[in-house]
Amino acid sequence: MKSIGVAVIGTGWCGGIRAETLGGHPLVSGLHLAEINQDRLWELAAKTEARTAVTDYREILKREDVAAVYISATPEHTHFPMAKDSLLAGKHVFLEKPIALTLAEADELIALARTKNLKFTIGYSQRFSPKYAYVRKCLRGGTIGRPVSALVSRHITRGLGKKISGRVKLSPAAMESTHDLDFLFWCLEPAKPVRVYSQVNYGAMREASGADVPDQQWCMVTMDSGMSIVVGGGWSLPPGYPNFSTTWIEMIGTEGALLVDDSHKDVILNTMKNGMQLPMSTMPGEYVDHTYAGAMAGETLHFLEAVAYDRPVLVTPEQARTVMEVYIAADLSAEKNAPVDLPLHPSKTVRAVA
Ligand SMILES: NC(=O)c1ccc[n+]([C@@H]2O[C@H](COP(=O)([O-])OP(=O)(O)OC[C@H]3O[C@@H](n4cnc5c(N)ncnc54)[C@H](O)[C@@H]3O)[C@@H](O)[C@H]2O)c1
Repeated sequence: MKSIGVAVIGTGWCGGIRAETLGGHPLVSGLHLAEINQDRLWELAAKTEARTAVTDYREILKREDVAAVYISATPEHTHFPMAKDSLLAGKHVFLEKPIALTLAEADELIALARTKNLKFTIGYSQRFSPKYAYVRKCLRGGTIGRPVSALVSRHITRGLGKKISGRVKLSPAAMESTHDLDFLFWCLEPAKPVRVYSQVNYGAMREASGADVPDQQWCMVTMDSGMSIVVGGGWSLPPGYPNFSTTWIEMIGTEGALLVDDSHKDVILNTMKNGMQLPMSTMPGEYVDHTYAGAMAGETLHFLEAVAYDRPVLVTPEQARTVMEVYIAADLSAEKNAPVDLPLHPSKTVRAVA
């Protein structure tokens, strides 16, 4: 077995899951953590028996015994400099979405990884969910014939919407539908997106924040195969189970159809204290004793194995760049009230919504 040293930069919600997954794994010879919130750093370092716990991530990048770095920090403008520093230091990089804030930054990271022959992947966790993999399998294997139409609609709670939209002014398409755009493009390969039309819907978030934050965004994307797809992302559900996520998928083909309920309503906990709750209903998932309910643990280990055994990563950075181009186009479209053709000029930046 070829064990390697790994690091997690940013040990909040997602970085915490990644660190817990990596800590003590037989393929990990040493876990190193970087987090600016000292309380959280010590909490996670103790829980995962981390070898190093520092507040400056650059200290970890100097270590020769660290082969791979998971970057899970927020706000999202940290992603590009942290990924660039890590690649320049010769580390393989797992980066949470978004890959960057401009297409030019994404191109720079992709070129750097390629030049230095390093693995570079982006956290599109839903690809590691069996339901999503099943949709792709049915399409690729011809079970439902040729694809005709696809829809994914996702909603999360306004508490999470507030957390996300409060730190960066990125749209629901950039921060939420990004997962489902990636998923559908992955299913429909080699078809490529050529045109995007999008509209945003306002409601509770604008009233609560006083800023120009939409509740929901629809994106209609036309592929070069002629097929069009629709992806919706909303973040204004009333508070329920913390970080609850509900998704509906329709994939219709010439020989069949797949209707996937990923609404996480299969387990209901009802207590005198908290009323009805939907446990295990978050997007990344959560640990349940010795098991993990969700996609993020498997995704974390996939990258660990890719580095340790020199295997390809499932999500290529070029695919993440395509998704980024589409959500930038979606934001431009919603602003202009008109369809936007692809490709976009590399100078295009993720749009601020407030
Ligand atoms: N794949 C998924 O399902 C999924 C779900 C949620 C979030 N995400 C993505 O994961 C990323 C993290 O989201 P989160 O909800 O875990 O965020 P979070 O805010 O809970 O955690 C981010 C952590 O980064 C730390 N940090 C900030 N600057 C730092 C620095 N310079 N060095 C070290 N640590 C630093 C913060 O203190 C914080 O603890 C986001 O970019 C988001 O887009 C992915």
